[in-house]
Amino acid sequence: MKPTLKIAIAGLGTVGTGVVALLRRNRTLLERHAGRKLELVAVSARDRNRTRTIDLDAVAWHADPVAMAALPEVDVVIELIGGSDGVARQVVTTALGHGKHVVTANKALLAHHGTTLARLAEAKGVALGFEAAVAGGIPILKALREGLAANHILRVCGILNGTCNYILSQMRQSGRDFAAVLAEAQGLGYAEADPSFDIDGVDTAHKLALLAAVAFGNSVNFAGVHVEGIRHVTALDIAFAHDLGYRIKLLGLARLTEHGIEQRVHPCMVPLTAPIAHVEGVFNAVMIEGDFVGRVTLEGRGAGADPTASAVIADLLDIATERGAPGFGVPASALVERATSPMARHSGAYYVRLMVVDRPGVIADITAAFRDEAVSIEQLLQRGRAPGEAVPVVLTTHDTEEAAMLRALDRIHALETVIEPPRLIRVENL
Ligand SMILES: NC(=O)c1ccc[n+]([C@@H]2O[C@H](COP(=O)([O-])OP(=O)(O)OC[C@H]3O[C@@H](n4cnc5c(N)ncnc54)[C@H](OP(=O)(O)O)[C@@H]3O)[C@@H](O)[C@H]2O)c1
Repeated sequence: MKPTLKIAIAGLGTVGTGVVALLRRNRTLLERHAGRKLELVAVSARDRNRTRTIDLDAVAWHADPVAMAALPEVDVVIELIGGSDGVARQVVTTALGHGKHVVTANKALLAHHGTTLARLAEAKGVALGFEAAVAGGIPILKALREGLAANHILRVCGILNGTCNYILSQMRQSGRDFAAVLAEAQGLGYAEADPSFDIDGVDTAHKLALLAAVAFGNSVNFAGVHVEGIRHVTALDIAFAHDLGYRIKLLGLARLTEHGIEQRVHPCMVPLTAPIAHVEGVFNAVMIEGDFVGRVTLEGRGAGADPTASAVIADLLDIATERGAPGFGVPASALVERATSPMARHSGAYYVRLMVVDRPGVIADITAAFRDEAVSIEQLLQRGRAPGEAVPVVLTTHDTEEAAMLRALDRIHALETVIEPPRLIRVENL
């Protein structure tokens, strides 16, 4: 039998306590899978006196998580503090520098420093596991690295933030506007007091940059992610989406194009025929399209103590058994640099909502602007009539280049009869 694997955990919040609980509750199963004993030898968090749901009497407490990460008796450091820099980064760098394996759920850290940390891990001959950083309990990185390794990945796309998906689901089900649903989500603990990382799409962008790096074998390119959040999604657009056979979802999407890698996070019109359209509430889902396998969709809990702990421990078991591919699927030295495909070159279909004065000739002016930019309209709806007053006009387009679409919308916005900036939502053919 291999020697006992000695584990240190930095961070004992939601995920950290979940990991300790899982290690204890499923110990027999885990040790059977690992083929060796797993021992939690050290922990660290900010406040020793904080009441926690786990008993830590038998484990050494370290006030300094960075010093703990260098302890000679520790084999694996699990970093669950969070944040792209500061203590979390120091803990991970110190552990890797001292030749210890690292498991982390920290998407912000990896989105900013993933390639550098993977190179350091490789130089030291240790593992850097981060399954829990993308879509919580869904084992999507392992699926990409191993189960789908025979495929060229054509695209990846996912609902990667449960808070946003919960808000959009609630808006659809209740007909209420964004602000009211966000306030309720905060009251229920589904959204943070400062929700901007979630609702402005940054958290999804962190995860997408990691997903894309594993899918396409490039170094992590967070700066190249186009990011829009959900603050501007209205109840009216959600109702129109329904009438047109779509659901609005915040998606992270990545694919390789002739111009480089396209990585984008924004609200999307998803056809009701796509499985991902029906993923509701706090759930996450990821769709991968491979050249031989076709489409594969995984759905599950993207956050929370138990699902995230499940992903953390899966990485730990790979380390215990010395199996598995490198974190990014290929050696860090083999990750390639790719140009960022500009959004202006993005080609796809669009939904547009205009608020126009109900007056003869308005529709002709709008369609003329699209014609002049060679944007082909698929369908156009005007609901209700209110002569001389503002009414919504909604249209969808055939595939068109984004630059042409934006030029057409500039012309339309300049029309005297168009009284609000046009609302644009990209339509995804999933
Ligand atoms: N929550 C989820 O569902 C989820 C899902 C996927 C990934 N993640 C990621 O997992 C990581 C942890 O998230 P979480 O939700 O568990 O966070 P959390 O509940 O806020 O816990 C953070 C922990 O880090 C400790 N900590 C903070 N600053 C510290 C410092 N300077 N020195 C030592 N310890 C420090 C805190 O100590 P005290 O307890 O003493 O305050 C706390 O135990 C983050 O990277 C997050 O993005 C979370």
